[in-house]
Amino acid sequence: MLIHMVVLGIETSCDDTAAAVVKDGKRLLANVVASSMDIHKLYGGVVPEIAARSHIESIMPVIKQAMADARCTWGDIDAIAVTYGAGLNGSLLIGLLAARTLAILKKKPLYAINHVEAHLYANFLTETKLEGYTLPADPPQFPMLGVIVSGGHSQLVLFRGHFDYTLLGQTQDDAIGEAFDKVAKILGLPYPGGLSVEKKAAEGNAHAFRLPKARMQGKYDFSFSGLKTAVLRTAQELVGADYSLPSIELPSRLNDRQKADIAATFTRVAVETIVDKVLLAYEEFTPKSVIIGGGVAASPPLRQELANRLPLPITYTDRKLCTDNGAMIATLGCFKAMLGAEPADPYSVGTAPNLSM
Ligand code: KG4
Ligand code: ZN
Repeated sequence: MLIHMVVLGIETSCDDTAAAVVKDGKRLLANVVASSMDIHKLYGGVVPEIAARSHIESIMPVIKQAMADARCTWGDIDAIAVTYGAGLNGSLLIGLLAARTLAILKKKPLYAINHVEAHLYANFLTETKLEGYTLPADPPQFPMLGVIVSGGHSQLVLFRGHFDYTLLGQTQDDAIGEAFDKVAKILGLPYPGGLSVEKKAAEGNAHAFRLPKARMQGKYDFSFSGLKTAVLRTAQELVGADYSLPSIELPSRLNDRQKADIAATFTRVAVETIVDKVLLAYEEFTPKSVIIGGGVAASPPLRQELANRLPLPITYTDRKLCTDNGAMIATLGCFKAMLGAEPADPYSVGTAPNLSM
């Protein structure tokens, strides 16, 4: 294993243009994120063409800023890591082409990174001098149970070591983040939905209604589409309408109290759905660590419920490292480089929009 490895990570899978520099898979030297969210907000969701165009404008300034923040020159960078999937193809292409070009020009090995797997690697960062980051004191231990809760994925993965994992189960329909975003729409809360539902839920009663938890055939599988429909029906009933009332009319007919109660009850049931399965997996596999990654890993109720119910102490990374960022890409890139994984061919590596674990 190489003693020191400094990796530039590049991430453009959705609406965030991100670059970061990480040393030895544990020390965060720089983390820069430019988001086109303000434009997407106007449309109530990410518009792929706008995201891709915005990546083109931001990618080089973001990379330059990350290198400047890390006080790095190209001579200090040992490798480049870049997301090649999963994500929006037009978005992925911009980061991947930038990374391929830089790898060729600067003669650096290039590591093609799975975004879904990388979300978990944010948990390996334990050191930084950057302001405003709270990181765990120690890295996770193997065997470890990884809980991926993002806008595109909800998966439980058992890792025996780096790159050596088994997918235990996953959502059979919507991802949990997608459910947060859809519930936000039903309640007329601004995009991105996770954060607005979190804020609204803080004022509500989490036991105001009965909402269902799906029973799945696969022991470690999830489903969130039934829960989302139950939220819609509850909202329609509350305003005295039947199921034919279009959801677009609900925000103006629900009062603030009702919105807060729906947000809080939905959050409780969504969180319990994940944590029930995490506990089952914990009992069966007794991992040394349990880690969570992806945008929904920023959710305080999810963090609290896991900490309350898991029999082992659980630590979390900074909330800023849960949503999409370059640090998680650079960290997984460090481990690939340190453990001798085969680099990608910078002349031919392509995107994989539907990549999973
Ligand atoms: O990991 P991420 O940034 O992008 C994907 O890889 O999908 O996750 C984005 C998702 C969105 O669905 C967003 O609503 C959700 O994460 N999210 C949250 C919170 N912050 C972001 N969900 C619940 N609570 C939050 N605080
Ligand atoms: Zn993500």
